[in-house]
Amino acid sequence: MSEDVFQSPKKKGRIAIFLSGRGSNFMAIHDAIVAGKINAEIVLVFSNKKEAPGLKVAQERKLETLYLNPKEYPSKEAYDEAIIQEIKKRNVDLICLAGYMKILTALFCNTFKNRIINIHPALLPSFPGLHVQQKAIDWGVRYSGATVHFVTAEVDMGPIILQAVVPVLQNDTEDTLSERILKQEHKIYPETVKLYFEGSLEVKGRRVFIR
Ligand code: GRF
Repeated sequence: MSEDVFQSPKKKGRIAIFLSGRGSNFMAIHDAIVAGKINAEIVLVFSNKKEAPGLKVAQERKLETLYLNPKEYPSKEAYDEAIIQEIKKRNVDLICLAGYMKILTALFCNTFKNRIINIHPALLPSFPGLHVQQKAIDWGVRYSGATVHFVTAEVDMGPIILQAVVPVLQNDTEDTLSERILKQEHKIYPETVKLYFEGSLEVKGRRVFIR
């Protein structure tokens, strides 16, 4: 059976950012775009949280924002269907999850296959889920880091694009380790988006090749 191959497009990309919190990764991506390092524009910053600080930053930066209240929809699928329509309307090429704290339905993930990426503050497949910096400390690993990966219906398990490694120090707290990891997140997330729209990412099965 021949394997599915995906090649990222070489073009000026239209990006949607999904966030639920402070949005420092969103800002890192936007800063890189403004600095001319990424051939793309952010056409939407979406949130499931009305008060997300990142949404406010997006407004200050004069980007289009959208908040949809999950409580106004009868099901997770109905909520995601509404978002799908908003994304399609804007001809979005790539969705960057940047601290989006709501699990996307399989419907959503399959609609935008190879067009959703996420950043996770651990070296996947170790420590999927939440509070992973504390989990890494508690487990006693010597190294942790950050992972940018494609999003599939299986949470935190899509094909890995880039990773960065940081040491876990003996006196680390959740905060100090998070801070060290975050610095790396702000490098590898914009770098991934850049590679995506340079047409440099090729996905074969689970493996991502950088051409
Ligand atoms: C980051 O640690 C990211 O890895 C995780 O959520 C956090 C978002 O932080 N997915 P920010 O909102 O981008 O500052």
